[in-house]
Amino acid sequence: MSNEPAIATSESPAYAVLPRHIGVIMDGNGRWATAQGKPRNEGHRAGVEALRRLVACAVEFEIDYLTIFSFSSENWTRPADEINAILGLMKRFIASDISKFVAHNVRVRILGRREGLTKAILQMIEQAESRTAHCTGLQLNVAFNYGGRQEIADAVRSLAQDVADGKISPEQIDESVIEQKLYTANMPDPDLIFRSSGEERLSNFLLWQSAYAEFVFFDEFWPEFNRDIFMRTLDEFSGRKRRFGGVNP
Ligand code: FPP
Repeated sequence: MSNEPAIATSESPAYAVLPRHIGVIMDGNGRWATAQGKPRNEGHRAGVEALRRLVACAVEFEIDYLTIFSFSSENWTRPADEINAILGLMKRFIASDISKFVAHNVRVRILGRREGLTKAILQMIEQAESRTAHCTGLQLNVAFNYGGRQEIADAVRSLAQDVADGKISPEQIDESVIEQKLYTANMPDPDLIFRSSGEERLSNFLLWQSAYAEFVFFDEFWPEFNRDIFMRTLDEFSGRKRRFGGVNP
């Protein structure tokens, strides 16, 4: 974050339309490392640097919400040493960058299932959220132990319980009631979701919320992400015609 301008400057290009909420699938850390003859964990380390550049871009362009896919509920099937490396990087990232987040008015929220996480991880999450709770600028959502289907299943279970407890009747269940049970309750849906490394799929990320998102896929591996790629992506987004199921006027 430190190497980049913190606010929109005269050099920041103006876009006709800016996304209010951006979702990012940071893919290709391992392939980037392998292509460089380095161990995969080096790719994740470089991925954190790219993440810092992303947050700086989001602050510069005054994006309201940035949701990053940092660790999926399926990622636990990776080798233990890779899981530990990613968790260690996350821990260090939060510990070292939290004061910068506060300085740039960035609020951190962690989205994902908390049951089953270790005490140490829960502590890290709670600390990141509580230390930035008063920030009113960019909201950085870190999707951790996150799976879109699991999020919907948890919401359905919770609603079923509410019905069983007589708190709500089945007729009252509509989209807005379901949305209130998601991790993203009270946040706008993502307008734009982008993914690095040439893969063109959602991989269980923000399944409900992405109903009308625009998708941009680019070939560079995540560690190669920079401000030019971000601007290219905004350019692409601002040229899209969003109709939300309707017709253009
Ligand atoms: C995808 O690359 C990336 C991940 C599964 C983890 C992303 C993690 C970080 C950027 C670092 C830790 C997170 C934070 C919030 C500090 P991949 O391993 O799937 O790459 P591949 O598809 O080339 O194997």
